[in-house]
Amino acid sequence: MTFKNTLRSGLVLGTFGVLGALLVSATEVQTRGVIQHNERMSLLSQLYELVPQEEVDNDFLQHPLTLDAPKSLGASDTLAYMGMRRNALAAVVFETTIPNGYAGPIHMLVAVGGEGVLKGVRVVSHSETPGLGDKIELGRSDWVLGFDGKSLVDPDVSRWKVKKDGGSFDQFTGATITPRAIVESIRKVLLYYDQQHRRLLDRYLRESRAVSESTPVRKKAEDLS
Ligand SMILES: Cc1cc2nc3c(=O)[nH]c(=O)nc-3n(C[C@H](O)[C@H](O)[C@H](O)COP(=O)(O)O)c2cc1C
Repeated sequence: MTFKNTLRSGLVLGTFGVLGALLVSATEVQTRGVIQHNERMSLLSQLYELVPQEEVDNDFLQHPLTLDAPKSLGASDTLAYMGMRRNALAAVVFETTIPNGYAGPIHMLVAVGGEGVLKGVRVVSHSETPGLGDKIELGRSDWVLGFDGKSLVDPDVSRWKVKKDGGSFDQFTGATITPRAIVESIRKVLLYYDQQHRRLLDRYLRESRAVSESTPVRKKAEDLS
């Protein structure tokens, strides 16, 4: 093989290599967009399962608030999705991950209605033991539906524990650690809501107003360019 042939083969191989890399990265960018969109849609349908769509008139996902209150919420980072209706607070859905499941963190959604009454709870993901701790999953048992309509006065805040600890909520046969962690986490969310919901509302109104006020300015700048 002459030097010229070697050079030509090298160039052809190099070109295909570059084209391949470009194709892979373009597909990756496109796929990432589709995955993000699907994740958003899936989260939105979970939120609407807890807070029916007709009860809110804002975009639930537009301005989630990041709550950094590990002590009061028992989780390092929690997101609050604010559901509004006619400029009043209709519901807040807290997306939180508690670290103290039996086998690892438990990621859940806790929906609290305007009056501080639970609209529902869903476990989004967990690593609890199949047949023991996994009854927190709606597909496995109805246990999680037992929180619907509950609040800090029903049962009394002192009874927000599993029955084994003198409270009102069932544990599972041979598995107390998982339900204990969840009951405690929901109690913390309700207390947090009770103490902070006005502040959350103010923050939401301030932040969402700031964004909507900045949008036309940006649009104007784009129009001029
Ligand atoms: C292999 C194995 C897996 C277990 N998985 C769980 C679990 O997912 N959730 C849970 O609450 N307990 C689980 N347990 C049981 C706990 O170790 C504990 O005995 C039970 O939750 C009762 O807790 P208590 O003594 O605080 O009431 C598991 C036990 C074993 C041996």
